[in-house]
Amino acid sequence: MLSSSFTTCMLISEENESVIEIETEKQGKYIVCFDPLDGSSNIDCLVSIGSIFGIYKKIEGKSSPTLQDALQPGNKMVAAGYALYGSATMMVLSIGGAVNGFTLDPAIGEFVLTDIDIKVPKRGNIISINEGYSYMWDEAIKEYVNSKKDPKNGKPYGARYVGSMVADVHRTLKYGGIFMYPATYASPKGKLRLLYECCPVAYILTHADGLASNGATPILDIVPESIHQRSPIFLGSRDDVEDVLLLIKKYRK
Ligand code: AHG
Ligand code: MN
Ligand code: MN
Repeated sequence: MLSSSFTTCMLISEENESVIEIETEKQGKYIVCFDPLDGSSNIDCLVSIGSIFGIYKKIEGKSSPTLQDALQPGNKMVAAGYALYGSATMMVLSIGGAVNGFTLDPAIGEFVLTDIDIKVPKRGNIISINEGYSYMWDEAIKEYVNSKKDPKNGKPYGARYVGSMVADVHRTLKYGGIFMYPATYASPKGKLRLLYECCPVAYILTHADGLASNGATPILDIVPESIHQRSPIFLGSRDDVEDVLLLIKKYRK
């Protein structure tokens, strides 16, 4: 559909090693980066999965697209979003302004605007991380997670981890809290891919008044060096992400 739409010139998919260049006669000005199926390990057990996309515009003044067009930072995206196949099917989208959610109404076969101008709560009470890797975390992440499980004041956070990033991110967007996929000793750059996993969800959360960082730099400010590069990610409610960033800074000194 994308390649025959006359709107795209280059596609980047998690499932394709190299960029897909659209034939010249059908080229438009947009570059689409996507994870066609996020949460693939959850398919066979019927847990929610989704699709993620980020859209860039070809850099002006060039006739044919080059890799440079695909390696623009997330803050150059013109639109991003995801579809979540959960208890309902929803498309969450921002075209640079508000974040809106459209729920599929199967009776009429249309996506209906149901969630207008979604904002993530300033602070939440849910923490989302694969705790199975805790022995491979650095000290900052260990201290942060412990501080939420066994707080000096107040109630502990709840723990939720679907293992489909798109579902974990959507819950974070709606209910607040924090989703993290940090670097570990085994994966020093984390697991998630910058172009079609981290950037689109960072774009959504940022436009919903949340934060998304790799621990040092806002995800949307990172200039990609290769199309499948990975990045650690800390994303969610502003206050919750700021808490973990403070600890990361403390340990970096
Ligand atoms: P994908 O299905 O596109 O390969 O992505 C899977 C990703 C992401 O959805 C999820 O957050 C993460 O893998 C889970 O990884 P762990 O099992 O290492 O926690
Ligand atoms: Mn994925
Ligand atoms: Mn995938």
